Amino acid sequence: MGIVGAGFVGPHHVDAVRRLGYVDIVAVAGSTEASAKKKADAIGAARAYGSYEALLADPDVQVVHNATPNYLHYPVNAAAIAKGKHVISDKPLAMTAAEAKKLLDQATKAGVVHAVTFNYRGNPLVQQARLQVARGDIGTPHFLVGYYLQDWLLKDTDYSWRLEPDKGGASSALGDIGSHWCDLAQHISGLRITHVLGDITTVIKKRKKPTAAREAFQAAGTNDAFELVDIKVEDLASVMLRFDNGAKGCFSVGQVCAGHKNDVELEICGSKSTLKWRQEQQNEIWFGHRDKPNEILMKDPSLLAPEAQRYAHLPGGHQEAWADAFSNLMRDIYGFIAEGKKPSDPHPAAFATFEDGYRANCVIEAILASAKAGSTWTQVSY
Ligand SMILES: NC(=O)c1ccc[n+]([C@@H]2O[C@H](COP(=O)([O-])OP(=O)(O)OC[C@H]3O[C@@H](n4cnc5c(N)ncnc54)[C@H](O)[C@@H]3O)[C@@H](O)[C@H]2O)c1
Repeated sequence: MGIVGAGFVGPHHVDAVRRLGYVDIVAVAGSTEASAKKKADAIGAARAYGSYEALLADPDVQVVHNATPNYLHYPVNAAAIAKGKHVISDKPLAMTAAEAKKLLDQATKAGVVHAVTFNYRGNPLVQQARLQVARGDIGTPHFLVGYYLQDWLLKDTDYSWRLEPDKGGASSALGDIGSHWCDLAQHISGLRITHVLGDITTVIKKRKKPTAAREAFQAAGTNDAFELVDIKVEDLASVMLRFDNGAKGCFSVGQVCAGHKNDVELEICGSKSTLKWRQEQQNEIWFGHRDKPNEILMKDPSLLAPEAQRYAHLPGGHQEAWADAFSNLMRDIYGFIAEGKKPSDPHPAAFATFEDGYRANCVIEAILASAKAGSTWTQVSY
C-alpha cells in the first residue's frame, strides 16, 4: 500500500493495515519531498514521494490510501483509479455529490476495489446492533436520534483547513462528522434517509488563522502569529430526518461543544425496544424496554451474534476502541482485495464503498440546500 497525506489520520491508516500482517507499507506521498521523507521515516515506509503523482507511478503500490484534506480527495482518487489502483479514500468521498458520483462511476468502470473509511462500522458492537435490528429485536424502527459532538473548534484560536470552503468544502461540521453519523444511522438501521430539514449555524464567526501551518487537533501556542478571518461554514447544525420506511429522526453536529471529545451517539427507537450505542462508551449497547428492566450488553465475544464475533478480538472486559475498529475496516477491505473479489461481489459488513460515500455526500448537500432555502423539508436526490 501507499498513502497520500500523513497528517492526523494517515498514520492510523498505516497502523491499521500493518496489523493485518500481510501488507507491505511501500510509500508515503507528502506535499514536499522533505515532509514525505520525515513521515516515511516516522511510519516506517520504504519510499517517500514529494507528489501523489510520483507515488501513483510506483508499480509496487497496489492500494492507494487517500488521507489528504477534502479538496484533494477527488483528484487523488481519480488519478489512482486511472492508474488501475485500488483506492481507500477517507471521508467525505468528495467535495460535492457530483464529484463523488464521478468517482463511483470511474471506479466501477475500471473494476478497481473502492472503499471509504466510515470506520465506526468496524466496531464489534456496531455490527451487533446492526444484526439485532435486522433480526427484529427492537421491532420496526420509528425514531432515530443522536449527535456527533466535539469541542476542538470551541475557541477562536482553534483553526483547521476544514473551515476554508476551497479546502474543506461548502460544509464543515456536517461534511466532516455529520457524514459519519448519517452513514452509521443508515448502516445500523438498514434504512435510507429520504428527506432532511437542516438548521445550520456558525457560532464562531471570526477566527485567528495561524500564519504557520498546523495539523488537525493541534492547539494554538500563546505567541503564534495569526490573521483574523471570517468563517463562512457551519460549526453547529441540527437536522430533522425522514427515512424510507416512514421513520423520523433528528441529529445534531457541533465542534464547539465543550467536554464532548469525539462523542457520537445513535439511538434507535423501535416498536418493541430501543437500542443506543455511544462511541465514547463503545464497549456497551444499551437496550431500553417498556415491560422489563432495561439492559446493558457489554462487549464479550461469547455474547455476540456469530457475524459480529469476528470484529471482536479480545475477551469480555478487555476494551476495544477506535483504532481496533479502524483495523477491522481494513481487515474487511484487504480481505476482499486479497481474495481477488470484484467490486460487484457482496461486500463484508464493515466495508463502506464509494457508493456509501456518494450517498453521504448527497445527504449533506440536501441539508445545506434545506438550510439555504430557510430550513424547509428537502428531498435527498441520489
Ligand atoms: N475516518 C475518520 O475518522 C477521520 C478522522 C480524521 C480525518 N479524516 C479525514 O481524513 C482526511 C485528512 O484529515 P486529517 O485530520 O488527517 O488532516 P491533516 O491536516 O492532519 O492531514 C492532512 C495531511 O495531508 C498532507 N497533504 C496536503 N497536501 C498534500 C498533497 N498535495 N500531497 C500529499 N499530502 C498532502 C498534509 O501535509 C497533512 O499531513 C480528511 O479528509 C478528513 O475528513 C477522517
